[in-house]
Amino acid sequence: MDILRLPAVGEFLRAATQLYNHGWAERNAGNISMILDEDFSSLKSIKEFPLSFSAEGMSGRCVLITGSGKYLKNAERDPENNVALLRIKDDRCELLWGLADGGKPSSELAAHLLSHSARLKADPAHRVVMHTHATHAVAMTFVHSLDEREFTRTLWQMATEAIMFFPDGVAVLPWMPCGTDEIGRATAEKMSDRRVVVWAHHGVFGSGASPDEALGLIETVDKAAEFYLLTAHLPIRQKINDSQLREMAAVLGVKPREGYLI
Ligand code: 13P
Ligand code: ZN
Repeated sequence: MDILRLPAVGEFLRAATQLYNHGWAERNAGNISMILDEDFSSLKSIKEFPLSFSAEGMSGRCVLITGSGKYLKNAERDPENNVALLRIKDDRCELLWGLADGGKPSSELAAHLLSHSARLKADPAHRVVMHTHATHAVAMTFVHSLDEREFTRTLWQMATEAIMFFPDGVAVLPWMPCGTDEIGRATAEKMSDRRVVVWAHHGVFGSGASPDEALGLIETVDKAAEFYLLTAHLPIRQKINDSQLREMAAVLGVKPREGYLI
């Protein structure tokens, strides 16, 4: 099977390039994973990587993920060396394709697999988890309260349609060491009822049914954060208020997270 011919794989690789073009994927920053539904039973395991966590509902599934230390800017040009196709088992994963010049799956594998597990329970159409160092969203974590309600409300107030893109709100994790099972578990817990998690002073995790959807979600968060940073130091003369947010939510047919609007 030529996995590079699958349309979803093309979209995955394009998203890696798009993250780089945004300026959000310096060096090896960021990682993407996508559940693939095709039948890969003809592919044999090349090698195995142990898992120190258990991602419920993921055993038997196949996941495409960028490699640790690999540069997202190179993924589309050279997928076989920068990306891995994994078959997930209970306590390990098998490499079925990719990482041809060596290496391991992303160091954020726990956050990816545990988030897939959490999102699939909330939304059967879920397929993609994306982590990137989105500039404005990260910058905002230095100057804004990290309270999730306050953070979300500010973002909603910054762009008329923001409430449509993330009505469940944006989750925020305080600074933690990255690449650990602990940050993976904390991220997945937030993902159980939201699609986007900001890691203070580090980056953003977004999810969706496709690479376009996950990337689009992170773009909307980052754009709202950019408006905030462009205006936070200026006298605000008018803004979108709560009754306008309610009006917008009604027009768009979305239900804002309970208790977030006044
Ligand atoms: P990896 O190269 O291991 O995917 O790590 C990049 C990153 O952004 C860690 O948070
Ligand atoms: Zn990162």
